[in-house]
Amino acid sequence: APGGALAGNRILVTAGGTREPLDPVRYLGNRSSGKQGTALARAAAAAGGSVHLVAANVGAEVLAGLPPTVTVTEVETTAELAEACAAAQPESDVIIMSAAVSDYRAAETAAHKMKKSGDEGLRIELVQNPDILAGLVRTRAGDQLIVGFAAETGSPEAGPEQLAREKLLRKGCDLLVLNDVSAGKAFGTDTNAIVLYARDGDAVSEVLRTEGTKDEVSEKVVAGVASVLHG
Ligand code: C5P
Repeated sequence: APGGALAGNRILVTAGGTREPLDPVRYLGNRSSGKQGTALARAAAAAGGSVHLVAANVGAEVLAGLPPTVTVTEVETTAELAEACAAAQPESDVIIMSAAVSDYRAAETAAHKMKKSGDEGLRIELVQNPDILAGLVRTRAGDQLIVGFAAETGSPEAGPEQLAREKLLRKGCDLLVLNDVSAGKAFGTDTNAIVLYARDGDAVSEVLRTEGTKDEVSEKVVAGVASVLHG
């Protein structure tokens, strides 16, 4: 299409992984590199979208791969990510939550570097973080399209695909990208295998499945999002 599949659309993408400080030098974090999220931002911009990327602890070398048209807001913690998303939500037609968000944060952040005390172990109390995606679903305006991610390894009771379908219904977003992260796949690598699901009421359907570089996968996801957006 002239101008691209997302021409005239404003796309909010989150990337990377949040970090929760324990003290001035330590944090609780995850292995997300931000490569998938920045690839999505790149693909959405290439499709003509006006893209705002909220990047949680994404390395400068990964951010350097973005075109200059992408607006970048850098955040560290889940609270900062939540605030940036809430601020950007009213001016977004599509929200793609690809960031790996810490489910917990320290109940208290020590003001000074924690010291080792004797031979005892250490207990750190954690409190639950709010679910940003679920919050965006609650506060969304009319026809805003919200896309969640699920990084699943499967469990003894259910495979990754079943868990992803259940997550899509539970979170109430419109689309969900399943990322199979079993056996060291996905995190930090340049390739990914994904399945894109769409929700219609209580029904979940598979939109597409694909495997390839994070850029290739992102192009397909963006095309799938655009097709749902434009009906
Ligand atoms: O439940 P789970 O963490 O697997 O859900 C993943 C999806 O939810 C991702 O889209 C992630 O960005 C989002 N999420 C969130 N806030 C949290 C936890 C996850 O927005 N506290």
